[in-house]
Amino acid sequence: MEKGSCSMGVKKMGLMLAFLGFLFFDGLLLCSAYNVHHYSFILKETNFTRLCTEKSMFTADGKWPGPTIHVRKGDTAFINVHNDGDYGVTIHWHGVRQPRNPWSDGPENITQCPIKPGTNFTYEVIFSTEEGTLWWHAHSDWSRATIHGAIVILPKLGTTYPFPEPYAEQVLILAEWFNGDVKELIDDATETGGDPTPSDAYAINGQPGFPNNCSNDTSFRLSVQPGKTYLLRLINAVMNEEMFFGIAKHNITVVAQDGAYIKPISTSYIMITPGQTMDILLTANQAASYYYIAATPFFDSGAPFDSSNTSAILEYTGTYTPPISPPYPTLPNATDKDAADNFTTRIRSLASPEHPVDIPQTITKRITITVSVNQILCANASCGGPDGNRLAASLNNISFSTPSIDFLQAYYGNLSSVFDRDFPDRPPYVFNFTGDVGNNTLYPSVGRKAHLIKYGESVEIVFQGTNIGNAENHPMHLHGFSFYLVGTGYGNFDNVTSPKTFNLKDPPEVNTIGVPKNGWAVIRFVADNPGVWFMHCHLERHASWGMDTVLIVENGPTNETSIRPPPPNLPTCS
Ligand code: C2O
Ligand code: CU
Repeated sequence: MEKGSCSMGVKKMGLMLAFLGFLFFDGLLLCSAYNVHHYSFILKETNFTRLCTEKSMFTADGKWPGPTIHVRKGDTAFINVHNDGDYGVTIHWHGVRQPRNPWSDGPENITQCPIKPGTNFTYEVIFSTEEGTLWWHAHSDWSRATIHGAIVILPKLGTTYPFPEPYAEQVLILAEWFNGDVKELIDDATETGGDPTPSDAYAINGQPGFPNNCSNDTSFRLSVQPGKTYLLRLINAVMNEEMFFGIAKHNITVVAQDGAYIKPISTSYIMITPGQTMDILLTANQAASYYYIAATPFFDSGAPFDSSNTSAILEYTGTYTPPISPPYPTLPNATDKDAADNFTTRIRSLASPEHPVDIPQTITKRITITVSVNQILCANASCGGPDGNRLAASLNNISFSTPSIDFLQAYYGNLSSVFDRDFPDRPPYVFNFTGDVGNNTLYPSVGRKAHLIKYGESVEIVFQGTNIGNAENHPMHLHGFSFYLVGTGYGNFDNVTSPKTFNLKDPPEVNTIGVPKNGWAVIRFVADNPGVWFMHCHLERHASWGMDTVLIVENGPTNETSIRPPPPNLPTCS
């Protein structure tokens, strides 16, 4: 559709129609700055068999993972989503900033009401600064387990990667397979207040692979030519566990994270949290043979989790006798947080002239948020969590409850009853957050609160993990922005000593960060995107338990700094 030719053309690629943008200038036909793409997804129930278990799953176009969206930096994609399923659903474009356009961001009852069965909605997904790999997923309860796919954002025409052009590229999506129905599973857990049942397997591109039951023959296979370099676009679409990932006998080089380039990191394994994406170069420089590509969980709390492995096969082309048992990568243990940190703390923005960073140095708005797993008391200790309580989670000790009319319509239409505007910018209780909290389970309040930020503020958010309940690493995700992760540490954040450890030169620019178990993480960004933006833990059970809040960036002084008007045909809320 592109390749430098600037004729006016329309080319069909499956369901995608790509219209080549063009404009006339002094009689010359020039390429416009961006292209417009059209996609359409049909959400429907489809039968799948994994681990010798057949079930019906809610998918996009009958595929798991769903279709890949291809764009170039700065393009716009119109994506029509038709819901042929049994219940309402929404789609989120994870990591896409969507300048001034929260209407197409997707989280259910935050920026829109669900697309009801038998109806459709067209999202306008506006790409701006992102380049690399992002992904899309359903954003209604746990439907993202089965409804998700990759977004590939190539460099603008006439520009190229900040590394040698790879020979070919491959999307790899890590996900979780549940033998049961995912909606029933979370509905049951919500009803009882207990821990949701862990998954039965992980999968790479929809296949659990060796050593899972009935899975050896169906492993995903990546065929490579000796000596060539491949770009792997790795996405963690797992619901509840962070993951280690590696390829036997091969070092890999990580070159981008969350749709932004980083200084290349050569490593034997990586740690990737749910929500994150990483672009990885793999050179086929070992003896022609088969090698396992594998992922295993990183899970540093005492809660139940899926401890199984998933694998795919790296298969060299050429003639050789395939090994009977190909080498398997050595990955860290599930609780090895040093291994996780050793990788994560190496990540730095590329910060080159072509890909500069712009880190706010003077902060005008500071917010501190405690991140906790809590419990809520149940009458007669009748719930399914510890001591008959209900498991809950909170930000600043407020456990989020989702309204039935979305925040955005309520905010835009000045409806005052839907949510409160007093999400605090300080923890309501100050204690030794990461110390021995003993029996201090600190019951959270339940609320529906947003925090308002003025347009253009330079914002710093300190996320402070707490040792209440089951402490663990929390992958916090903010919609509408990518932000700089300027520092992380263990223990309590200290206003004097912690900032001295900040990286204000080349911190990673990301959309999801791990707040270390019993530690803190600090992010910075400029509030230059007016809208209603969800912020939550990307471990799905924590998000369901209330580890969520909403940041509203108010309109600036002009039209160009204000939320766009709503699109036609927004799903209705009743
Ligand atoms: Cu990946 Cu709120 O989402
Ligand atoms: Cu969490």
